Amino acid sequence: MEQLEPTLAAIAAADTIEAVEALRVSALGKQGWVSTLLKSLGGMSPEERTSTGPRIHAAREAVTAALGERRNALESAALEAKLAAETADLSLPAPAAPRGSVHPVSQVMDELAEIFADMGFAVATGPEIEDDWHNFTALNMPETHPARAMHDTFYFPDKDAEGRSMLLRTHTSPVQIRSMLSQGAPLRVIAPGRVYRSDSDATHTPMFHQIEGLVIDKGIHLGHLKWTLETFLKAFFEREDIVLRLRPSYFPFTEPSVEVDVGYTLINGKRVVGGSGDAANGGWMEVLGSGMVNRKVIEFGGLDPDEWQGFAFGTGVDRLAMLKYGMDDLRAFFDGDVRWLANYGFGALDVPTLSGGVGVRA
Ligand code: DAH
Repeated sequence: MEQLEPTLAAIAAADTIEAVEALRVSALGKQGWVSTLLKSLGGMSPEERTSTGPRIHAAREAVTAALGERRNALESAALEAKLAAETADLSLPAPAAPRGSVHPVSQVMDELAEIFADMGFAVATGPEIEDDWHNFTALNMPETHPARAMHDTFYFPDKDAEGRSMLLRTHTSPVQIRSMLSQGAPLRVIAPGRVYRSDSDATHTPMFHQIEGLVIDKGIHLGHLKWTLETFLKAFFEREDIVLRLRPSYFPFTEPSVEVDVGYTLINGKRVVGGSGDAANGGWMEVLGSGMVNRKVIEFGGLDPDEWQGFAFGTGVDRLAMLKYGMDDLRAFFDGDVRWLANYGFGALDVPTLSGGVGVRA
């Protein structure tokens, strides 16, 4: 056992983890001296074994303990050295503006979800690749309906398993049908999302965003519609002087249908939402399509129109964003230009809340 003292001394002097490991192998490894001694126990007489055995085991334990202790000491020294080398220099300047921003369309959709959630609306979704039954037929636009031609629809070459033509949805209105069929009544949903039309100029892009609203309940009338839209627009534009004008209109899926104008005021030649459109420096602009849900649409949604009534509305999210935040070219929304995003984007912490203000920029 003459190896024990020199081994313990070597372990205490080892100054790297690798050196400790080499010493472990030389003592406790398969060919190590402790292991060799342990193996020799087998060839000993019982008396010899009784006297030598415990000493060998004690040596093994002493070596194991010394190795563990040295390894711990070296590891914590290494950690301290690392921490000392990595201290943050608090005198360094703060980083420049944070990178990346939330797109105004995402921000406005979050604002809308927040405003409507407060009025008891849930968010519903539907597929962007839609069939013509949900997109048109069930919304009271049979195959021969002229409104179909007005939608500049992107069709797919193949039909689905049920023989329906497939298309990129031209509006979010098919989510009305999907929501009624899957959830029944009563119902209060909004459905924001992408829609597609073959159309492109300064105010039209082939892909844009809409938001749909649908309320189905008993005894619903136009007064509920007007109150809901007024409350929504006041919360969205964050001003009380929002004046609405409901104009008779036509949509196949509503009866009666109304187009909703909001009063604006001219400020430095720019239209700013608010004030009566009849004021000397004001006017009206259309912001929403809406109406009482057509009986046929309620039937296509699997509900009895004698029992259930409702109202619906739809509008462009991009347009709402432009009106609120002052951009004037829709195409820039989808160019992915970082300078535009840096200017019009929102910080990740600008989460819209009704209590904090749905449109406050940090
Ligand atoms: N779907 C219509 C469009 O894309 C917008 C619309 C009008 C939606 C009236 C509605 C509504 O829900 O009631 O132009």
